[in-house]
This record gives sequence, structure tokens and C-alpha cells, in this order.
Amino acid sequence: MKTESEIFTSHSEEDTKNFGHEFAGTLTGGNVILLFGDLGAGKTVFVRGVCEALGISGVRSPSFTLINEYESPNGLLIIHADLYRLDPDGVSATGLDEYAGDDDAVLFVEWPDRWTNPPENSVRIYFDSSSENERTIRIERGIS
Ligand SMILES: Nc1ncnc2c1ncn2[C@@H]1O[C@H](COP(=O)(O)OP(=O)(O)OP(=O)(O)O)[C@@H](O)[C@H]1O
Ligand SMILES: [Mg+2]
Repeated sequence: MKTESEIFTSHSEEDTKNFGHEFAGTLTGGNVILLFGDLGAGKTVFVRGVCEALGISGVRSPSFTLINEYESPNGLLIIHADLYRLDPDGVSATGLDEYAGDDDAVLFVEWPDRWTNPPENSVRIYFDSSSENERTIRIERGIS
């Protein structure tokens, strides 16, 4: 599949949240978004920004809960998963594949390298920490 990519440089947590606000406008039910990047790279901050724009506040890291579920005021389900502590069998047990097939839900996945078969048409976002407060964020989408 061909891809198109977009690069954004964030200089603060606020910038990353605002970038999430913009990204929220591109979402439709059934989307799967894979978030790559090291610990502290800003993946959760980004999802918090996306959710804020959709009218959802209080987004917390799913590091320990593994999967957090939110519903926006207009009925869109947001599933936010963190697979860091799981192996591929553990990932299957979370039911992530079922969520990925649900057209009413949008799925954000941190540490998606633990997931053996993510949908091929997933949007991939790569977070790179260039310095303490600077992050390079690259979005890659398949185009048909
Ligand atoms: N430009 C920036 N964008 C996002 N976060 C930033 C930025 N600069 C500094 N930070 C800080 O980096 C941290 C990012 O934390 P966050 O929980 O989003 O990371 P994460 O990628 O989800 O990590 P993990 O894999 O541990 O879940 C926060 O403490 C935030 O304040
Ligand atoms: Mg996180």
C-alpha cells in the first residue's frame, strides 16, 4: 500500500495536545491508530488532546488498566490501549481484534509492536523525542 506522511514538530505538551485536536477532526468510526515511540514520547498526551476535542476529559494513561474506554457526547467510542506489559498472547486476550472490527469505535494503541496482526489500513503515528520538550511526530496513512 502507498502511504502519505505528515510531519509536525511539537515544542511543548500543549503543542502535542493541539496537534491531537486537529487530528480528531479526521477521525471516523472504525479507524485504528497505532502510536509508536519510547516511554515518555507523548503518545498519551496526544490521545488526551484528541479526546479533549471530542468532548472527553480526564484521559489517563492505560499503562496499568491496559484498555480505557470513553464515549464522546456524539456517541463515538474511543478505545485507548497500552500493550507495553503484554506479549502477543496477552494482546489476544484483551479482545483488541474485536474492537478493531467495530465501526462505532476508534482504537488508539500504544506499544503496537506487541500486536501480531494490526489491520493493514491502520494509521501509524511515530513520536520521537528530539530533546526534553521537543517531539517530532510523523503520521503515515495508507492511500489506495
Ligand atoms: N512536546 C511534548 N509533547 C508531549 N509531551 C511532552 C512534550 N514535552 C515534554 N513532554 C512531557 O513528556 C511526557 C509525555 O508523557 P506521555 O505519558 O504522553 O508519554 P507516552 O508516550 O504515553 O509514554 P508511555 O509509553 O510510558 O505510555 C509528559 O510528562 C509531558 O509533560
Ligand atoms: Mg502512554
